[in-house]
Amino acid sequence: MRIIAFYSPKGGVGKTAAAVNVAYLASQDNRATLLWDLDPQGAASFYLAGAELVKGRKLSKLLEGKSPISEFIHEDVYPGLDFIPAHSSFRNFDIKLEQEQGANVLKEMLAPLSEDTSLVILDCPPTLSRLTEQVLDIADQVYVPVVPTWLSLNSWNQLLEFVKTKKLGTKKLRPFFSMVDRRKNLHKELVERGPELLGNPLSVAVPYASVVERMGEEGLPLELLAPGSPAADVYRKMWQSIRKDLRSR
Ligand SMILES: Nc1ncnc2c1ncn2[C@@H]1O[C@H](COP(=O)(O)OP(=O)(O)OP(=O)(O)O)[C@@H](O)[C@H]1O
Ligand SMILES: [Mg+2]
Repeated sequence: MRIIAFYSPKGGVGKTAAAVNVAYLASQDNRATLLWDLDPQGAASFYLAGAELVKGRKLSKLLEGKSPISEFIHEDVYPGLDFIPAHSSFRNFDIKLEQEQGANVLKEMLAPLSEDTSLVILDCPPTLSRLTEQVLDIADQVYVPVVPTWLSLNSWNQLLEFVKTKKLGTKKLRPFFSMVDRRKNLHKELVERGPELLGNPLSVAVPYASVVERMGEEGLPLELLAPGSPAADVYRKMWQSIRKDLRSR
């Protein structure tokens, strides 16, 4: 079982859109995939209209360690794609992690799934907390959307410094440009300087496209909503790159 995460300390940069699209594409590529929406605000749930809260199960029980993770999974939102929706109790993750210093709670929660799940995708909130620190620790790869602006590059550099300081392994960080508007000179310039500015970026850049915004309204991954759009093509290439990353580890 491999674990990847979409994470940036910056909000609204395209983490969830990428996590949902990649999760769908991975499941279509015969990978038993689990998408876990770790953001208490629950945006991933909007993109997967078919997913409902698993009735009668309080997700807070998961944090209390009273029920195994399998009870919280919405199975087969699409064939081969399981989903753990967000829950407001995820706000308390940090308290739980505080109480169990040293233990990798997240890893322990996921361990029982390793037989049936080939890929876990974590959609993270835009915070730098104990939870996200644990995500950075346990993930095999962390994909970081960077909007081509100086502010967003600054957040990227802060993340890089954090990962260095905490010795979490900078190699697993894979930045990629997101919400790129090629009509803007700055966007064009920064994307061209990608390898110099970002170190080891994915070779795909997600364009700014209204069709991606519509994913939320329609509750569909882009591959179902607009498979012929240029953005859908970029996400397909992104999944191919991620597959290659996972193979080479
Ligand atoms: N490539 C894109 N082009 C246009 N709009 C986009 C694109 N990607 C995402 N959006 C829109 O921007 C908003 C933020 O996207 P998304 O939720 O994926 O970001 P996020 O990084 O997960 O945000 P948060 O930090 O709040 O979790 C959403 O309204 C989404 O529809
Ligand atoms: Mg999000």
